[in-house]
Amino acid sequence: MSAGETARCAVHGPGRPSEWLLRFADLIPTDGEVLDVACGSGRHTRFLLERGLRVVCVDRDTSGVSDLAGRNDVRIVAADLETDSARGVPAGSYAAVIVTNYLHRPLLPQLVAAVGPRGLLIYETFAAGNEHYGRPRSPDHLLQPGELLEAVRGQLRVLAYEDITVQSPRRAAVQRICARREASFPPPTLSQNVGRETRGVGRVLRQDGAA
Ligand SMILES: C[S@@+](CC[C@H](N)C(=O)[O-])C[C@H]1O[C@@H](n2cnc3c(N)ncnc32)[C@H](O)[C@@H]1O
Repeated sequence: MSAGETARCAVHGPGRPSEWLLRFADLIPTDGEVLDVACGSGRHTRFLLERGLRVVCVDRDTSGVSDLAGRNDVRIVAADLETDSARGVPAGSYAAVIVTNYLHRPLLPQLVAAVGPRGLLIYETFAAGNEHYGRPRSPDHLLQPGELLEAVRGQLRVLAYEDITVQSPRRAAVQRICARREASFPPPTLSQNVGRETRGVGRVLRQDGAA
């Protein structure tokens, strides 16, 4: 892991699971595998394993989870998600797809498609505006307003979404979503690609019944 990646991981603490994942973990179906994308040290893989879930964790550097090798409830996949996007996301129909502190924009359609029936997408990473507070600063690594909503629009039901600046453990602009594949939504298809425009935000929020 590069120094920059280590710094980004440290924003939410190296060991403790993300509060966003903690909030929705009970909703993850227990009869399938969970995909932990860019798993790093495996803080979420470990948390999910402790809950009795089976996990597929993927990272280009799997040294942080090497101690988990050999367990029958975890599959460790060493893959560069960015040089070969089509093969980088392990194929599957997952009970949940977890992504935290990582963004490679071209993967978003694949990650949404990998969510199985009743499964969740739990995604939390840095958002536009974070460049004022620290790393990452590159637009390539910062979500645009409404981008996660657009990624799931018409495919997953949005249970919760935030696009905010948090103050702890350090000030950071983050965007996060929890969305579920439900029978009333169309089946996964990569042809339903996402756009970058934000005009669908209000409509998607109403799907949640919260607005
Ligand atoms: C900031 S850390 C986040 C780790 C973990 N998701 C967490 O929140 O604790 C980013 C992770 O993305 C991984 N990563 C970065 N580029 C990658 C790539 N092209 N393919 C696969 N993994 C990558 C790094 O190795 C690192 O483990």
